[in-house]
Amino acid sequence: MNEKIAALKKEFPALGGRFEGRRLVYLDSACTVLKLRCAADEQRRHMLELGGCGGKRSSHALAAAMEENFYAARSRVASFMGAGSPEEIIFTAGVTDAVNLLANSFPFSPKRNEVILSPVEHNAVFLPFERLASAGKIKLRVIPLKNLKPDLEAYRKMLGPKTALVCFTHASNIFGGRTDIAAAADLAHAAGAYLFADDAQYAPTHGGGGAIYGADASAFSGHKLGAPYATGALYVKRELLGKLRPWRVGGGTVADVTLAGGRYKVKYLGNYQAFEAGVQNCSGAAGLAAAIARLEKCGFENIRAHVSGLVDDALKSLAGIKGVRVLGERADLLEGSLISIVPLKKGFSVPDFNLYLNHQLKGRFIAVRTGRHCADLACLASGYRETIRISFFAYNTPEDTAIFISALKQYLSLLR
Ligand SMILES: Cc1ncc(COP(=O)(O)O)c(C=O)c1O
Repeated sequence: MNEKIAALKKEFPALGGRFEGRRLVYLDSACTVLKLRCAADEQRRHMLELGGCGGKRSSHALAAAMEENFYAARSRVASFMGAGSPEEIIFTAGVTDAVNLLANSFPFSPKRNEVILSPVEHNAVFLPFERLASAGKIKLRVIPLKNLKPDLEAYRKMLGPKTALVCFTHASNIFGGRTDIAAAADLAHAAGAYLFADDAQYAPTHGGGGAIYGADASAFSGHKLGAPYATGALYVKRELLGKLRPWRVGGGTVADVTLAGGRYKVKYLGNYQAFEAGVQNCSGAAGLAAAIARLEKCGFENIRAHVSGLVDDALKSLAGIKGVRVLGERADLLEGSLISIVPLKKGFSVPDFNLYLNHQLKGRFIAVRTGRHCADLACLASGYRETIRISFFAYNTPEDTAIFISALKQYLSLLR
């Protein structure tokens, strides 16, 4: 293990956790990454040593210190996401919050009201647009699935003068691998549409996100980076940001309110300020910035190489097991951080296997994720109703995989 990775590994206290006396083997980082000590420390310090109100409301010295700290976090997130400026960063509670905001603020028009989704979008991306489509406000189209990836040729043909927005997951949370956001964005732009990239699974092990590849908007979730829960950000490039109509409105968003002829006229503030209504999660943002700084200190090139190596190692081990199938192609999976497998052997029950991993192993339990992974579009398109997903982060080792493989073999040996 690279020494920078080894040093980073020491900073996740939950790794040594025991539950009901059994040791945790954590292979569920795609769901959430265990939390970094520095992120928790910084959030705590921020609450106890500052504890005032950021967001340019009050103008005393404590509020100024808060705002300075908050803007520093915004700048850190902007450079992490590849944004042109901190003004393009809207703090959110994660990707779900970001997409709800984007979908409901987006300037759809009768002439351009179509949204195209990749077939592997998480429900966090699918459902906000599905809801608008059900209400008759937009038309939703889903790209067909080809070899468990979006069919790019079909996507090209779906684009047209009515396409307003296209959404692509940068790395699928069910089939793994990675999406070519640059190619998808080029095609969207040629049709005059905008592209949103969901970096939830990409940002934690690659660093950065869709903006670097030409996405007009992108989002990530802090908890998947070891940062506090309910933190994250939506990047929107300045030109598009100016066209969005604030969806959640309230305190801290308004430049002026006037009353003329019995009607109120509200002038909203510019850029991100119009989209962060109410008191923001400043301490969460401070924790998020600390997490990003720590991962950048380790180097995302090191994190990526380590995680890719773990995927490679797991694929080699799984190749020798007859009772299950690995979904996806090796070369693509190496670019991601997770592997989904489905059972082949008669009698293999995914929920039972999950119970087995949790309750039947001596002295330890293995946390993996089983089920549909909130990826209902992908399940419908592929026909796989459930998978067993193992996912990796910087703190995992080949021993974790070996423990899982051994448990899988034992479970298979119990089936007749
Ligand atoms: C690809 C993808 N997009 C979006 C989300 C939603 O993220 P959050 O629950 O942090 O809002 C997830 C969470 O698992 C995800 O994997």
